[in-house]
Amino acid sequence: MDAIVADNLRKEFGGVVAVDDVSFSVRSGVVFGYLGPNGAGKTTTLRMIYGVLRPTSGTAYVMGHDVLREPAQAKKNLGVMPEETGLYSRLTAEENLIYFGRLRGLRGRELERRVVKLLQKLNLMEKRYVIADKLSRGQKQKVAFARAILHEPPILILDEPTLGVDVMSAREIRRMIEDYAKEGNTVVISTHNMFEVERLCQEVAIINRGRIVYQGSKDDLMRISGEKEFEDVFVKLVRQEVVER
Ligand SMILES: Nc1ncnc2c1ncn2[C@@H]1O[C@H](COP(=O)(O)OP(=O)(O)OP(=O)(O)O)[C@@H](O)[C@H]1O
Ligand SMILES: [Mg+2]
Repeated sequence: MDAIVADNLRKEFGGVVAVDDVSFSVRSGVVFGYLGPNGAGKTTTLRMIYGVLRPTSGTAYVMGHDVLREPAQAKKNLGVMPEETGLYSRLTAEENLIYFGRLRGLRGRELERRVVKLLQKLNLMEKRYVIADKLSRGQKQKVAFARAILHEPPILILDEPTLGVDVMSAREIRRMIEDYAKEGNTVVISTHNMFEVERLCQEVAIINRGRIVYQGSKDDLMRISGEKEFEDVFVKLVRQEVVER
């Protein structure tokens, strides 16, 4: 079954079309890159999929659950890292994780174990008791990533997860994403980092001005474009030099 299906998703903001009847599907078990220039409509699409923004028309399905008709069942499958981290600024790094873990049904020793393990992996132990408001941008990103993955959901949606994150931590996040996908989970990742795409994604969709200009396997795209670097492929596509397969 497809983990996620976007079915003619459309979002207009006061007459401006941010997402223009976007459809794509994400197979279970892949890392799917959702790519496009600033303002292309990535965040808007993802927000409709994870159920915080109502589409103007169209809908999305998460593990077969319509996000508009069965929002609770759809959300149960998701771990989300929003573009704005969405942390509670007056809770500490650890409290943010504990609070969220409880909301997702985790308790006691098991919750504590997972929180500490993630804080260690992401090199955040010394910020454990610091309120989110006082964390650096990269540190907030890392806490938000930990929060997305804490309850081990089958699908992760990550909106620019390594933005502003230092080299070592970005590597760790990439490694965690890889391991996570290897276990059969699905990851949708929006990023401007082309190295990350090359490294992580098997499938990509590219959106430009609200419209999908490519969806398919990254390797196929590399082949038909005749380019060696993914960045060059991306530039070509956004300039509309490669037509959809
Ligand atoms: N709440 C909103 N109200 C009005 N316009 C919005 C709103 N959110 C997004 N937009 C507009 O919709 C378009 C798409 O924005 P979106 O945030 O989805 O882009 P993006 O692809 O995520 O870009 P970036 O790479 O910069 O994060 C932009 O033109 C933006 O100005
Ligand atoms: Mg965005």
